Amino acid sequence: MSTALTYQSGFGNEYASEALSGALPQGRNSPQKVAHGLFAELMSGTAFTAPRAANQRTWMYRRQPSAVAGGYEPLAHATLKTGAKDGVVVAPNPMRWDPTPIPETAMGFVQGLHTVAVNGDADAQVGLAVHLYLVNRSMVDSAFVNADGEMLIVPQTGALTITTELGVLEVAPGEIALLPRGMAFRVAVDGPSRGYICENYGAAFRLPELGPIGSNGLANRRDFLAPVAAFEEPGNACRIVRKVGGALWAATLPSTPFNVVAWHGNLAPVKYDTANFMTIGSISFDHPDPSIFTVLTSPSDTPGWANCDFVIFPPRWLVAEDTFRPPWYHRNMMSEFMGLVHGQYDAKPEGFRPGGMSLHNCMVPHGPDAEAFERASNAALAPHKLEDTLAFMFESRWRFHPTEFAMNGGALDARYAECWAPLAATKG
Ligand code: FE2
Repeated sequence: MSTALTYQSGFGNEYASEALSGALPQGRNSPQKVAHGLFAELMSGTAFTAPRAANQRTWMYRRQPSAVAGGYEPLAHATLKTGAKDGVVVAPNPMRWDPTPIPETAMGFVQGLHTVAVNGDADAQVGLAVHLYLVNRSMVDSAFVNADGEMLIVPQTGALTITTELGVLEVAPGEIALLPRGMAFRVAVDGPSRGYICENYGAAFRLPELGPIGSNGLANRRDFLAPVAAFEEPGNACRIVRKVGGALWAATLPSTPFNVVAWHGNLAPVKYDTANFMTIGSISFDHPDPSIFTVLTSPSDTPGWANCDFVIFPPRWLVAEDTFRPPWYHRNMMSEFMGLVHGQYDAKPEGFRPGGMSLHNCMVPHGPDAEAFERASNAALAPHKLEDTLAFMFESRWRFHPTEFAMNGGALDARYAECWAPLAATKG
């Protein structure tokens, strides 16, 4: 499906692309007159004075500035929530959810956002929300802008075509997309589609430092793909929906906002195929911390304590000697929201299903279920490959609050904690 599109390789590169020859100014960002009568427009993703290594901005050369829009009117949304204030109080139990069915009624991407867990505060630029998207209809003559946070999209079923101001990304399950805060986009689907979203209110996701791992490994910079410039001809009016401070607002644009003919800069949407993730693990003994599987990190103000780490558990070899190979029992400072794109997760072979979710908040004890414990305790420790699996985690230093939809939407597995009940206390 993605063969038809061209991409620019890299993460945070100084990309440059033009869809019309000569549209991209050379040597200056805002010439008095831009070629083809285009308007120059700057979009910054960081404060102007952010350190150079983190500074993000992109210049767009477009047929009409984004400032041309009608007045915004409030738009109600029943299942989209923002910040810890929108969570419900729940007991400190481990929690798990079955896959949420994709509704039969027509549902586009914005309408299909169902928030399941929230923390932090969008206006304070702290924390994140976890949404499910449940979609069966493409957006037409409409666009979405999220000023509250960037959106990390993890498709679970169905491929997405994401048209952005900077070009088009095609994203299938197994891949992820990262859409910058405040950049307009539109999502088309090829059938019933479901996936997970981390809406990150905090510092933009970046590649983690590699420390002693060195200059190669985990997610390699070149495997991230940004779009090339692509613009649409003026056509129908476009309904644009903006998320600001947890509220949605709608306005009518005279024409498509996807009118950027050329652009350059390092603030860009990207996609990434998790099959390119170079996993690192124990080749001697013991189960390493899951931080070795970090694809992207959103740091907080305290070094090493992430606002959010995006962590994947892809196919990999297990070779450790004299080792209980799944995660051991644990309770952590960081709060762990997990999803499963496909296959089995080794600590929960049965009850955690593709499209499902689990939540283990700060200091909530959890670990392998009784079946996984028995199996791993007695397994022959020959090299073993975990095949056909892709679980992931949004891990945050901020405790997640499930939403009303998560607790009462019908997918909560009320018997989850029973998976540990057969683990009898040892005697002697
Ligand atoms: Fe855990």
